[in-house]
Amino acid sequence: MSLLKSIFGILIIIFFVFTSCTKSIDSSPKCTEQQKNIKEKLSSAAVQSKFVSEFIFSNETKPSLLMTWAGNQTLIIVTIRTQGVLTRDSSVYRSTNDGRTFVNITAKILEAGATSSALLVSQSLGLQRNPAQPARIYLACHDPAKLGGATGLLYYTLDGGATWHLSSPGFPVQSAQILFHTDKPDWLLAQAGDKLYLSVNAGQDWRLIKKRVFKASWGVSADDKDSIYAAFDGEASFVSLLRDGVASSNHRLPGRQLAKLTDFTAGSNNWKTLAEKIYSYNNKDGFIFISKSDEGKAESRHLEVSTDCGKTFVRTQLPSATPDRFFVILDTSDGLAFVHIDAGNYLGYGTLYTSNSLGQVFSKSLERNFYPPLGGSSDFYKVESMRGAFLSTVLHSDASMHSVITHNRGAVWRHLSKPDGVTCTTTDGGPCYLQVASYYSISRSVPADQPRSAPSAVGLLIVHGHTAAKLQSNPADVYISSDGGYSWYLALKGPHRVQIGNNGNFLVAVEKSANGSSPQVVKFSTDAGRCWHSHRFTTEDYVFTGLLTEPGNRALTVAIWGYVSELHHWRVFVVDLGVLLSRSCTDSDYESWLSNGAVNYDNANHQACVLGAKETIKRLKADSMCASTYSYKPQTSVTPCECTKDDFECEFGYTRPVNSLDCVRDPDVPTPRICDANTVKKIITEGYRKLPRNRCQGGFQPNVTHQEVLHEASCPQPTEDPRARDGRLLIQSIEQQRQQAELDKTRRTVGLMVPLAITVAILLAIVLSLVVLARHRERRRRRLAFHYSIVSAAGRRGDEADGEDVEYQAADDILQGGGGSGGFYNATGATERRPTNGGGKMRASDKQALLGGGEDDEAPIF
Ligand SMILES: *[C@@H]1O[C@H](CO)[C@@H](O)[C@H](O)[C@H]1NC(C)=O
Ligand SMILES: *[C@@H]1O[C@H](CO)[C@@H](O)[C@H](O)[C@H]1NC(C)=O
Ligand SMILES: *[C@@H]1O[C@H](CO)[C@@H](O)[C@H](O)[C@H]1NC(C)=O
Ligand SMILES: *[C@@H]1O[C@H](CO)[C@@H](O)[C@H](O)[C@H]1NC(C)=O
Ligand SMILES: *[C@@H]1O[C@H](CO)[C@@H](O)[C@H](O)[C@H]1NC(C)=O
Repeated sequence: MSLLKSIFGILIIIFFVFTSCTKSIDSSPKCTEQQKNIKEKLSSAAVQSKFVSEFIFSNETKPSLLMTWAGNQTLIIVTIRTQGVLTRDSSVYRSTNDGRTFVNITAKILEAGATSSALLVSQSLGLQRNPAQPARIYLACHDPAKLGGATGLLYYTLDGGATWHLSSPGFPVQSAQILFHTDKPDWLLAQAGDKLYLSVNAGQDWRLIKKRVFKASWGVSADDKDSIYAAFDGEASFVSLLRDGVASSNHRLPGRQLAKLTDFTAGSNNWKTLAEKIYSYNNKDGFIFISKSDEGKAESRHLEVSTDCGKTFVRTQLPSATPDRFFVILDTSDGLAFVHIDAGNYLGYGTLYTSNSLGQVFSKSLERNFYPPLGGSSDFYKVESMRGAFLSTVLHSDASMHSVITHNRGAVWRHLSKPDGVTCTTTDGGPCYLQVASYYSISRSVPADQPRSAPSAVGLLIVHGHTAAKLQSNPADVYISSDGGYSWYLALKGPHRVQIGNNGNFLVAVEKSANGSSPQVVKFSTDAGRCWHSHRFTTEDYVFTGLLTEPGNRALTVAIWGYVSELHHWRVFVVDLGVLLSRSCTDSDYESWLSNGAVNYDNANHQACVLGAKETIKRLKADSMCASTYSYKPQTSVTPCECTKDDFECEFGYTRPVNSLDCVRDPDVPTPRICDANTVKKIITEGYRKLPRNRCQGGFQPNVTHQEVLHEASCPQPTEDPRARDGRLLIQSIEQQRQQAELDKTRRTVGLMVPLAITVAILLAIVLSLVVLARHRERRRRRLAFHYSIVSAAGRRGDEADGEDVEYQAADDILQGGGGSGGFYNATGATERRPTNGGGKMRASDKQALLGGGEDDEAPIF
């Protein structure tokens, strides 16, 4: 009897496990019905084989794989076997059917040049694609005849790999980053080591345009696109190199200049200097930021900005950074800059500031914004599917971390609302919200995946996280918002890799299992992740490396990449949702969706008003079973709203507490005073400043800034500074007062530092190890000191003779410990690389590494 009971018990448990595995979280009759229909459709073997097709790269065992999409359902794959930095062996494959089948085109590419017997694609920068014209693909190769590496070969295609051309650029193109002009596809820059080369005929002919280059870029604003910017080191840096004995590869040398070249098509090499003594620069979205050392204090640096293509630079009102602090320019879209300034002392947080539209005056957006010291991943994420939305993480003084979201570009940050119908996992530490396990959590091995959103999938945001009071380290679940992050629902239990397909029309997911086994089941949803279906696509063991879809998230296919463990053959499964979404979407499949509809919905006048306007977007209904066209673009109509406090940010000297709209006076900052027309004036404001690009009309109007005259004719230094003329001195004087206030504040808060002592102790250990590292570098520097003097001499000789700096290049190699690809001006140690959503190009140093997918997006750190 008891035996029967326990068998019955086991049966119930098995039944329970079985149903809970196959059942989706949504158990509505509509979902059950849909699941039944799709299961029926997929039960036919003919449909199944169309739904998932498999391709095995038989006899292909090379361990590295580079991949890029060339548009028009075309994929280019390069497989590589290396020996040290050299490529021993590589093959190129092309697919013209979204990856269902591939053809070995290695021999065809070699036909482009009669000189070469083997194709040796470089592993680090071997496959580069013009992002504006994906059919233009560049294969940077080692020259089999000159394996020393002084020159390389460049094979390229302008038609997605159908025909190939060869050029011999005469420089180490195999280690060069190619920079593409945004709308002149024939114009290319290539930075190889510290030399900058230009081609104006799609890569066929190249000429050297600048030496000792640290960083280069194309101009960004509309009337400046045809200029080349470069930061390079002048003579002075060699002197300082010798004097200071800098050995670190990421140490910034003063003496660096920013210059611009415009009339290069006529063969000119007349660089116009824009700024001197800079550390680094960043030009994006019409801003050019430079970091410079403070006058008389070489160790601390500040940020200057230009919004007129480098004609004038104005010092920003942000505090200076001492050597233990850093600036990060996180985003410059919508005419505003988000800048993170580290708090110093390796505390792991800093303050996030937003600029005004000129990039000069900044106000505090978010305090205790988490950003790991010594590089690493921050959780700052721009939501691509809704304008003005960003995610970040704050670090509290008890070391707990909390996710926050803004919907108005940093004016107000809020916690993420608790997902409907989900119970809180821990109540420890306050009220329950959705906590996002993002880049930092992933870097700390929390089972999760990065957030996902796409501009064409309007309002859709997919994150991993927990419903809890603070960030958790146990495996995360998948949560989805279809209204840009206002409300959330639980979509999948446990960590998954998710991809957005066909403009958000469907989602595909595979489980990231805790035991490391590879997924054999693919899950998909056609209603933004509420109702899920699953399909077993293989029963064989393989090693999973990635789930990828074409950048832009428009395609109807998603590919599951991996390799067969024993044979080491690459294999790919292509899941084609077009089989299920066979009907083309018509007008009735779209709905008018009020973006930010959850904002102020209790106030009919202001419902959905964000950045001063409401936007109505035509988007696909969540449950539409159709395929949208490849060229679909969401249509938006805009109406202005009445102004509210939401449309204003806080003036300098005011802050806004989390979850409040009021700008309150910061008692530590004195009232700003300016010197205008030989008179000192006190500026009094109500603390609010309208957000740039805000389109609101009427409504809330804070009292206009007014000035109070304090002393007639008693300005300290009238108009010596040319910037005082147009009021820019204001920024400097505010800055000085700010610095004083910070100093006072620091003095007062020293006594409060005790609770932080433990954290500091841990961080001290990190610092100590850094000191040890620095000592090690110092010892190495001493050993290399002899070489430095040669470098310096050779560098100058090279300049005078205007010939090739062979010795200089060789000395670079010494500094790099033989690698020599970067040159020591490349601050590779200080730039954070992070894959962004979508994926354009991917790399894997070996098959174990996940082919995570994603174009590298750098957050420039100064
Ligand atoms: C793979 O190798 C086997 C034997 O090693 C050979 O028979 C087969 O033709 C090869 N396949 C391809 C596609 O080269
Ligand atoms: C896409 O490829 C097909 C054949 O694969 C070709 O006929 C068509 O012209 C291509 N379209 C474009 C825009 O390149
Ligand atoms: C691909 O083609 C090249 C050139 O014909 C050949 O050397 C190579 O072995 C091929 N790769 C495979 C895996 O068959
Ligand atoms: C690993 O976990 C998955 C579910 O996550 C399960 O299906 C599979 O059987 C497990 N494999 C092993 C070897 O335990
Ligand atoms: C504007 O200033 C006046 C006088 O200083 C004050 O009475 C009024 O309340 C202020 N208005 C707002 C909206 O703060």
